[in-house]
Amino acid sequence: MNMNERFEAYIASDAKIEPKDWMPDAYRKTLIRQISQHAHSEVVGMLPEGNWVTRAPSLLRKSILLAKVQDEAGHGLYLYSACETLGVSRDDLIADLHSGKAKYSSIFNYPATSWADMGTIGWLVDGAAIMNQVPLCKTSYGPYARAMVRVCKEESFHQRQGFQILLALCNGTEEQKAMAQESINRWWWPALMMFGPRDEDSQHTEESMRWRIKRFTNDELRQKFIDMTVPQAELLGLTIPDPDLKWNEERGHYDFGEINWEEFYHVIRGNGPCNKERIAARQQAHDEGAWVREAALAHSKKRAAQSSTHAA
Ligand code: 3HC
Repeated sequence: MNMNERFEAYIASDAKIEPKDWMPDAYRKTLIRQISQHAHSEVVGMLPEGNWVTRAPSLLRKSILLAKVQDEAGHGLYLYSACETLGVSRDDLIADLHSGKAKYSSIFNYPATSWADMGTIGWLVDGAAIMNQVPLCKTSYGPYARAMVRVCKEESFHQRQGFQILLALCNGTEEQKAMAQESINRWWWPALMMFGPRDEDSQHTEESMRWRIKRFTNDELRQKFIDMTVPQAELLGLTIPDPDLKWNEERGHYDFGEINWEEFYHVIRGNGPCNKERIAARQQAHDEGAWVREAALAHSKKRAAQSSTHAA
C-alpha cells in the first residue's frame, strides 16, 4: 500500500489524525480552509450581538448576552489554535479574512435590527451551529474534534438563552409577539443557508465525507435542523415563513420550500447586506488591538530572554 492508500485505510478505521501524522496535502489544505473559516465565523459572529449588549432590556439580559459574545471569542481562539497545528500562521489566516480571500458564515452578513433578533440568533443560528458542530466532535482531525467538544457544551447555553428570550416575547404583549414573528421572518431562510449549498452543488462534501471531516452531508444536517426546529416554533406560537413546510409521513421529515440560492451565492461572494461593514469592523478591531499583541509579544520575549540567562 502507498502512503495515500494507508491514509485512506487509517481514516476508514475511524482513527484520529494528529498534527505530527503524515497526511495528503489536499487533506491538510481542506482542513485549513474549513477550520479557519469556522474560526472567522465565530469572531465575525460576535458583531451582530455585540451591537445589542448596550441595548439589552435588563441587566440580566445584558450579562447573559455578554457571556455569550465572550464565548464566541473563545470559540474563535480554540479554532485558530487548532488550525495553527496544520502549519499555518494566525496572522496569515486573519489577513485572508480581511482581504476577502477567506469566507465566514453567510448568516453574519445580515443586520440584527431588533432585540428579538438576539433571541432568534441564539435559537436559530446557534441551533443550526449545534446541528453542524456536534458531528464535528467526531471529525477525523484530532485537534478540531477536541476543540468542538468544548464549543458544543457552550453552544447549548447559547441556543437555550435565545429560545428563552423568544418565549418571554411570545408570552408578552401583542407588540412583543409581533417583534418575535418579524424576526423569524427575516432569519429563517438565511439560517437554512448556513448548512451550505445543496449536496449536488457542494464542491467539498464528497471528499470531506470520505475523509470523515464531515460526518453528515449539508442536506442531511439541514433536514435534521428543520425537523428539530419546527416543533419548537409551534411551542413558541410562531409561524415559520415557508408556505411549503409540511410534515411528510412517508419520508418521516418535513418537506420545505426552495431556498433562494441566488441570494446565498450573492452573500458568500461578498455582496450581502453587511459584508463590507463586518470586515471593516474586524479590520478596525485588529488595528486598534495591535498594541496589545505587541505588548504581549514583548513580554514573552523578555521572559524568554530572562529564562535563558538563568539557564546559562
Ligand atoms: N457561508 C459562507 N460560505 C459557505 C457557506 C456559508 N453558509 N456554506 C458553504 N460555503 C462555502 C464553502 O466554504 C465553500 O467555499 P470555499 O471552497 O471557498 O471554502 C463553498 O461554499 C462550497 O460549499 P461546500 O459545501 O462545498 O463547502 P464545505 O464542505 O466546507 O461545507 C460548511 C460548508 C457546511 C459550512 C462546512 O465548511 C462546515 O461544516 N464548517 C464548519 C462549521 C462552520 O463553519 N459553521 C459556520 C457557523 S459557526 C457559528 O455559527 C458560530 C456560532 O457560535 C454562532
